[in-house]
Parts: sequence; C-alpha cells; structure tokens
Amino acid sequence: MNTALKLIQSIETRQSPIGIIGLGYVGIPLSICFLEAGFQVLGFDQDQEKVASINKGRSCLSHIDDSLMGSYVTSRKFSATTDMQRLNEPDVVLICVPTPTTTDHKPNLSHLIESVKHIANSLRKGQLICLESTPYPGATEELLLPSLQTEEIIVGSDFFLAFSPEREDPGNTQYQIASIPKIVSGTTDACLKVAESLYSGVFNKVFPVSSTQTAECTKLIENIYRHVNISFVNELKQILSQMEVDIWEVLEAASTKPFGFQSFSPGPGIGGHCIPNNPIYFSWKVNQLGMSSQIINSALSVEKSMAGYVCETAKRALTNQKKKLANSNILILGVTYKPDIQDTRESPALPIIKLLQESGATVEYSDPYVPILQSSQTKDRKMQSLHLTKKDLGMFDLVILITDHSSFPYQLIHEHSTLIIDTRNAFRRNNFIGDHVIQA
Ligand SMILES: NC(=O)c1ccc[n+]([C@@H]2O[C@H](COP(=O)([O-])OP(=O)(O)OC[C@H]3O[C@@H](n4cnc5c(N)ncnc54)[C@H](O)[C@@H]3O)[C@@H](O)[C@H]2O)c1
Repeated sequence: MNTALKLIQSIETRQSPIGIIGLGYVGIPLSICFLEAGFQVLGFDQDQEKVASINKGRSCLSHIDDSLMGSYVTSRKFSATTDMQRLNEPDVVLICVPTPTTTDHKPNLSHLIESVKHIANSLRKGQLICLESTPYPGATEELLLPSLQTEEIIVGSDFFLAFSPEREDPGNTQYQIASIPKIVSGTTDACLKVAESLYSGVFNKVFPVSSTQTAECTKLIENIYRHVNISFVNELKQILSQMEVDIWEVLEAASTKPFGFQSFSPGPGIGGHCIPNNPIYFSWKVNQLGMSSQIINSALSVEKSMAGYVCETAKRALTNQKKKLANSNILILGVTYKPDIQDTRESPALPIIKLLQESGATVEYSDPYVPILQSSQTKDRKMQSLHLTKKDLGMFDLVILITDHSSFPYQLIHEHSTLIIDTRNAFRRNNFIGDHVIQA
C-alpha cells in the first residue's frame, strides 16, 4: 500500500495522532473539534505558561469552557508541549500560529517561518502538514514547500502538504466550527486526497479547490470583503452625519430590500487579528507583482482615519458643553475589538485612547473581559479596568462606548453619565435615548 493510502486509512480509523502548533483563538477550538471527532491531539506552543495552564485543563479562552478542555486532559486524549522535537510524533501537523503585520505594514511571517523550521527538522515519511494560518497568496508553495521538501523526502509521495484556511469566528455561538464548510487544497492530488480525508471526518462539509493559491486567495478575499464593506459604512457614517442623516436608520431601511444588499455595521474602526491585517497580506503580494488595488488602499485609509473621527466628535461634544478635551476625564467602555470576547489585538480602542491622551485628556476604561490593559500604544502602558458604579460614572466628563459588550449595565450608564458618545448604536438599540447620547 502506498504512503498516502496508509495515512488515509490510519486517519479514518482514528489511529493517527494530530499535532496542532499554536494554541490560541484558532488552535484551541480546532483541537477540541478533532478531540470530539475521536482523535488524540498533541498541542505545541512556545508559550510555557500557556502550555502549563492548558495541561492543568484550562482553555485560556473566555468563550471556551475549562471543563471541556479539562475532561480531555484528564482522559489523556489531549496534552500540550513546548518541545518542538516531538513534532515527529503526530501523523498530521496543523499550523495555527499568528500571521500579523510589521509596523511598516508588511506581512510578519516570523512565527510561520519558525514553525516550518521546526517541522522540517523532524519531518518524516507519512506525515501530512497543513497550514491553517492565513498567509499571502502563494505562501504554501513558495515558503513552506521549499523549506520542507528535500531529495530524500518528496511531497505527494513521502509527505503531504496542504492549506486549509481557518474560518473560526471566536465567540460566535450561532456557528459551531464543524458546521462551517472547510475549504481544502493540496500541493499535489495525493496531498489534496489525504487532507480531504482528514477534514471530512471532522467537518460537516469539505469544499476542495484546485490549488493552494486558490484557497489562500479565497480566505483573504472573504476577509477583505468584510474590511472594504465595513470601511464603506464607516466612511458613509462620517459623510451622513455632516448631512444630518442617521446612518443606522438608512441601513435599517436599506436592509428591507430582500436581494442585492447586505448590511454591515459601522463602528469606531476595524480590529482583531484578521480583518485589519488580511488586506495588507493581499496588497503586499499584489504590489510585488507590480500591481495595486485602489479599493483596498482606500479602505485601509478610511480605517486609519476612524480614531481621529471619534476624537473630533468627542472634542465637539465637549466644546458644546463648554469643556475642553485637554482637561477632561474620559471613560472608554470596551477595549476588545468586538463584543463578548477578551481579544484586544488591533482594537480600535487603542488608537482612540492614544489620541485622547495625546490631546491632554485623562482616560480610564472599563471592560469586564480585560481587567488589565497592556499596550505599547497607550500613554500608560498598563491600565486597570474600572468597575462601573453610579458615583464613578458621574465623575467623567464623557463616556465613549467602543465595544458593545452585552453585559454592560446600559441603563446605569445612561442614567448616570453626563455625556455619552456611542460608536455602536448600542444605547438606542437598547431603547436608551436622550440628548446626552451622541452617535459617532
Ligand atoms: N483569531 C481568529 O479569529 C482567526 C480566525 C481565522 C483565522 N485566523 C488565523 O489563524 C492564525 C492564528 O491566529 P490566532 O488568533 O489563533 O492567534 P493567537 O495569537 O490567538 O494564537 C497563536 C498561538 O501561537 C503561539 N505561537 C506563536 N509563534 C509560535 C511558534 N513559533 N511556535 C509555537 N507556537 C507559537 C502563540 O504563543 C499563541 O498561543 C492567524 O494566521 C490568523 O490570521 C484567526
């Protein structure tokens, strides 16, 4: 029996252990998916503290129950390690490390390159290596393949290389990961077959595509579509406010059209690890090919302007109350990039806090998911979340809602704040209206 068939048989009978590199927002839920499908999982992460916590049964994610993780640790179906030499143990290695951008807006591939180096050091016959992190188009063939293949070990016959983009949406309770169709691609036909056999045992629907580059573009375009459309409504929000037209009412009305219109929600700017970075990954490759995308560039520049827009609105609102931004006390509500999760990566709250502080305002924040905020962007590198009380709320000149966590006491905030800027339409949505609530 050839190597591919042997591996497929071993996967189908759950004999193949799965290795997952990067135990974060993607790697942890993915581990649980494979565990639920009956596989043994060995997790790899460079963060010693995180590995120790996971091995004590903690998920390290607020939206994933520790008891679920704990049960798999206790039954020895799951364990985590920092020892990358053990990468030769699993038959399947899934790469889920971060793919951020550099400060000069280029792909930062350092985590990916390091992981691939470790895999190359221990690569053996009969392994499937599958990238789940979001790379630039062409990365699987241009970056991974040359690092892994040698004269002794050939792709498609000795080992298998695939790319299957992660489409996880942390905290989304409507879609379980296994119910989100899984795009699968392989470097060769055999690679694709092995990857399809793996994912079809775990996901309800697998959608194979003809090349890894097609799958890479699919993933990026899904997120760029969101980025461009959110930037569009964020720009419209600024224009319509000058026209004294309410963007939220416009969007609600436009959404009654049963076809041809999809509504996106305006906000204080785009955040998270993916949506702000993915257009940069795509554009970087496009530029390397001597082209450029004007639409992506415009969307990126609208997003860059959002912090300034929120701060200008704050300044105007305070001036109307005969107060100066420079001397004011401001409370930021919510510092995560979206509601009901703990992730602050690329959160729009960070540049807004920075700008307000640079303007001379004193800024505090409250976020039930982030007790301590550590960021190189803010003036105070370490800030502490404020517990919301009547008395404290009354002491602030202005409260700015950035993230509409469902657990915020909207009524209390509405009743006891002097002035509120709402970047998410959360107060009105919850029927808390009044002259002291301003949309931005
Ligand atoms: N977060 C999301 O919602 C989401 C959704 C879809 C796709 N993705 C993509 O998935 C990938 C992972 O994102 P994430 O949000 O899970 O990141 P994360 O930061 O939450 O987790 C990554 C983990 O990888 C570990 N790590 C970093 N470098 C490592 C290395 N060299 N070796 C071993 N471990 C290493 C980190 O310690 C961390 O625990 C990214 O490419 C991202 O674009 C993320």
